[in-house]
Amino acid sequence: MSQGYHKNSAENKPSMGSLEPRRIASQIQSSPFDKISLNAEQMQAVLTSSPAGIGIVTGQILGWANENLYAMLGYEYDSLNGKNIQILFPSQWEYEKILATLTKGMEKYGVGMVETRISGKDGLSFDCQIRSSFMDRQAPEKGAVVVITDTSELKSLQIQLQQAQKMEAIGVLAGGISHDFNNILMGIQGHLSLMRINVNAAEKISSHIHQIGKLVNTAAELTGRLLGFARGGKYQTQILNINEVVELTLKMFKPSRKDILIHESFEKELHLVEGDLSQIEQVLLNILINASQAMVETGEIFVNTQNLFIQERHQYPFDVNPGRYIMISIKDTGIGMDTHTQKKIFDPFFSTKKIGDHKGRGLGLSTVFGIVKNHSGFITVTSKKGQGSVFNICLPASNNLPVKDLKKNTPSS
Ligand SMILES: Nc1ncnc2c1ncn2[C@@H]1O[C@H](COP(=O)(O)OP(=O)(O)OP(=O)(O)O)[C@@H](O)[C@H]1O
Ligand SMILES: [Mg+2]
Repeated sequence: MSQGYHKNSAENKPSMGSLEPRRIASQIQSSPFDKISLNAEQMQAVLTSSPAGIGIVTGQILGWANENLYAMLGYEYDSLNGKNIQILFPSQWEYEKILATLTKGMEKYGVGMVETRISGKDGLSFDCQIRSSFMDRQAPEKGAVVVITDTSELKSLQIQLQQAQKMEAIGVLAGGISHDFNNILMGIQGHLSLMRINVNAAEKISSHIHQIGKLVNTAAELTGRLLGFARGGKYQTQILNINEVVELTLKMFKPSRKDILIHESFEKELHLVEGDLSQIEQVLLNILINASQAMVETGEIFVNTQNLFIQERHQYPFDVNPGRYIMISIKDTGIGMDTHTQKKIFDPFFSTKKIGDHKGRGLGLSTVFGIVKNHSGFITVTSKKGQGSVFNICLPASNNLPVKDLKKNTPSS
């Protein structure tokens, strides 16, 4: 939350001011750096023809807005003039959170930016990016220009990419798991052969049937977990106990690499998190697969969860909202990375994995980055060449309390 901003205090609310397009034009005209000066009509034409929705806001009241903003929202042109912009947001709480983020960005960097969902006249919400800047940074009361871009198409492409990447991750796991599956089938076959021999001994047959039943259950659990993870479709935010998510993911990962020793330690009273189960599993799985691929022969992975409180004055070299978080730490004893590699690992298509060994597409960590960012979290990495790596995933704790028992809601658990 930005400095000087308090949720329930009207006086302290950041004010986004409003100015007529004419005023903007005159400000631009008077700028000593401008080579081209625009008159009011030209300025109006530029604003009207912009593909983005542009509005001017004073003290949370929308003044002028271009036609595209009205088209995007489904309102009749000019019908929102003088209305409080809160009507575009699903809740007062959501609105205040967004307002605080934008104000913080404007005060700190000159531009506020947030990715969120806003609702149109029909009540349906869509994904968008909002950018805002004060008309006059020295006098915020003069208002702000707000630029809204519809990102729903981009979001849908991102989801498709995540789904494709998830299938790749399953492909990597399947290699190890198919071995397990084969063992199960061999076991079933063994019991069937013994049943044929002992065809008249009822007791023995019942014991073989029991064993076959157990093996079938194990196989069903294995496929169920993969199918549950592979499911695509709608992403759903729910309240999650990350300890359970880690356990579920490890159950899926472990059979694929039995040569790796995995150590787990969980914080007992871990804060709850709002998130999408399948996406968080994907984050963990991608990092676990990378850790396993970083092992030359065999090695160890340490998975740990803990609560975290980030102070207003924190040590992170990037912008982080203070507050309660949970941290999942995944440490491996693999080959590690030099600083040059570390700087690039989240770039899409960056991979050091060669053909022959495993052809890396370089999409695992960029997907992780996107998902963690969408959950308003962040990720840090520490590593040294030859000395393993640690990935810390931090996600904000939820303030909503009802807990779903994931184990009951996950296929074949
Ligand atoms: N635990 C790790 N230890 C050492 N290097 C790592 C580790 N995790 C990631 N890296 C480095 O980061 C690069 C990018 O990882 P990323 O998961 O995005 O792609 P990839 O694993 O190469 O390919 P893909 O995940 O698409 O199969 C890797 O190629 C590797 O160089
Ligand atoms: Mg990878």
